[in-house]
Amino acid sequence: MLRILAANHAKETHVSESSPVRLEKEGDIGVIVVDYPPVNALGPGVSDGIIDALNRGNADPDIRAMVLIGAGRSFIAGADIRGFGTGRKRASIGSRTYDVLDASPKPVVAAIHGFALGGGLENAMACHYRIAVPSAKVGLPEVQIGILPGGGGTQRLPRLAGPKVALEMITSGRHVPAPEALRYGILDEVLPEGTDLRTSAIAFARRVADRRPLPRVRDHAVQVDDPGMFDTMRKSIARRARNQKAPYHCIAAVEASCTLPFDAGIVRENELFNELENSDEARALRYAFFAEREVAKLPDLGEVKPHDFHAPAVIGAGTMGGGIAMSFADFGYDVKIMDANEQALDRGMERIRANYATSVKRGSLAHDEMERRLARIHPVGGYDEIKDCDVVVEAVFERMDVKKPVFARLDHVMNPDALLFSNTSALDMDALAAETKRPDKVAGTHFFSPANVMKLLEVVRPANASPQTLATAMAMGRRIGKISAMAGNTDGFVANRSRAPFNSEMVILLEQGCLPEQVDKVMVDFGYPMGPFAVGDLAGLDIGAEGRKRRAAADPKYRKLPIADKLVEMGRYGQKTGAGWYRYEKGDRTPHPDTEVAAIIRQVAGEMGVPQHNFTDQEILRRLLFSSVNEACRILEEGKAYRASDIDVMWLHGFGFPRYRGGLMYWADGIGVREVYNQIAAWHQQFGERWAPSRLLRQLAETGTPFRDAKPAPFR
Ligand code: 3HC
Repeated sequence: MLRILAANHAKETHVSESSPVRLEKEGDIGVIVVDYPPVNALGPGVSDGIIDALNRGNADPDIRAMVLIGAGRSFIAGADIRGFGTGRKRASIGSRTYDVLDASPKPVVAAIHGFALGGGLENAMACHYRIAVPSAKVGLPEVQIGILPGGGGTQRLPRLAGPKVALEMITSGRHVPAPEALRYGILDEVLPEGTDLRTSAIAFARRVADRRPLPRVRDHAVQVDDPGMFDTMRKSIARRARNQKAPYHCIAAVEASCTLPFDAGIVRENELFNELENSDEARALRYAFFAEREVAKLPDLGEVKPHDFHAPAVIGAGTMGGGIAMSFADFGYDVKIMDANEQALDRGMERIRANYATSVKRGSLAHDEMERRLARIHPVGGYDEIKDCDVVVEAVFERMDVKKPVFARLDHVMNPDALLFSNTSALDMDALAAETKRPDKVAGTHFFSPANVMKLLEVVRPANASPQTLATAMAMGRRIGKISAMAGNTDGFVANRSRAPFNSEMVILLEQGCLPEQVDKVMVDFGYPMGPFAVGDLAGLDIGAEGRKRRAAADPKYRKLPIADKLVEMGRYGQKTGAGWYRYEKGDRTPHPDTEVAAIIRQVAGEMGVPQHNFTDQEILRRLLFSSVNEACRILEEGKAYRASDIDVMWLHGFGFPRYRGGLMYWADGIGVREVYNQIAAWHQQFGERWAPSRLLRQLAETGTPFRDAKPAPFR
């Protein structure tokens, strides 16, 4: 142990050379500083360090009270998730930080900035007082990684904030801003803006140093006004919590806080926690958490700092352009939206207003916030008015002959440093970049529809884009709330290309004896929010038909989908025409199975002479997903994606793949690479070329290497 006497005589620091926690003495107050970058997770040595500092503070006769504070950008972001599922040693009830803080004979004040999440908030609630800066956020997000708060959170939060608030916070995992947490009673004080947290916490600790008895959250009574709330909550989460245990265990644990004394509640919480830590869903959700962080890393581009951008512009006021402009405005950017066609610009602005108004009506957006966002979107009619913008996202009609002249024009008018991005879902980005004299400053930014809602942003990398352009496109996505993922310039890029075989296979299944509603049920049971045929009707069947025509023209071996083509020929475009794969009643989006569709399927299958077959649910699921796994392997072997886990992130945020199944490739790993290969090889024999196993898949199967460890070719 080192004992450092600071130049300021009042401040003395004790640190163990390796401990991430130190005890600093500020006169009669002990300040316990957790210093474990980047987010002060309760990693190795942190919990022990807190207990050690606490014991020393309590043993020191000069110290009257203590402050628990985080160094760096946060208080404590929770337990170290990397340790979960590794057979880590866990302290037993009674000797955990939460218990030791709670039992401290001297008062402890939690001083919160940044995030107090999970075990971070649980430690704070075990302290006697909690103060925070106004920008701090608190929450118990454990449900999002398939577990429940296991450090007393399910028992203390209902005692502080009431079971109703606790239930909502714990089942949603929401991060609650400090002022709101103050209203709930979770915090004792929120400091005025600009106040120094440490100084204020020390002053607070001095004020309460001699107050006895110490306020302990465990001693609060739980007020249950509505005992039916637990069943109501179970019913209300039934759809989104399908196939999962954690949300229900969260409810059971909070319910226990209302029926059991505190200590018995803690034991119950612990039992429920133990049932979850190593569950399939918890493992998959942890994987997704880290995959979402990994996807931001661009390993072959070196240390590259993105450009700062301040003035974005969007070209094209259609549905996509409007959604992209909204994304910028939602995150505080003033954005220009340009359309040379005045009527299209007016219609686009009306659509934007209507979209915001729907959110206001649903209660997810305040009216004055809608007005603030609308005021940030500036419609303009000509290129001259955007020439000083520093990034442009082109979102005009998805055809090369439409986009090319726009790029040439942009190159001509824009400041030479401006970056030019194209929102395309499939077009060749090298060809677009070649229209400009700045190919190093051109990249694809593929937003998913609706662009202001969907989280995925695929950043498409043309051959000549500079590392800084690519890093800026990735950072731009993150700044507007997206998860950015890098994709190679290949037809359909990574997300849609890996999904394309699924889209064909689902229609081929119909030729062989399935019905749309049967396939949709299997996929909804698997965990998708909607079945793929219902999604097709929502998006519009005419869109897919265009792409098929283009591909069929380019590739004589392209597998045509006569049933889908026939529906489009009949004008069945989906919801917008009242009929697609399903039929729709006027003004209602509920899909109804349609005998007319069943008849078309039988007719086309008969004409094609396809033998009919009864499918099991597993066959349907595997036919769809294995076809995509095989294509994803091709994408990796061609070096069009960095990692299998990036493809998983794309499926989670682009296609609604159930998060608690980790993602396409993680799910396939659960089945096993050899089984996947054997099945694909068997279907290759049965159905021909479209099921030919990819080279990488064969290699992985031969060596027994899981998809997650696949080594893709260098990115190109
Ligand atoms: N454990 C381990 N690593 C963590 C972590 C955690 N709890 N939280 C963040 N990290 C890591 C990230 O993996 C990332 O690492 P990298 O730089 O190597 O990729 C780094 O910290 C920074 O994280 P972010 O990129 O996410 O930083 P942001 O500033 O965008 O977000 C955050 C910060 C909001 C704290 C976010 O990281 C987050 O949500 N973390 C998880 C919080 C959580 O789930 N806490 C509960 C844990 S479970 C628990 O406490 C159990 C208890 O009840 C017993």
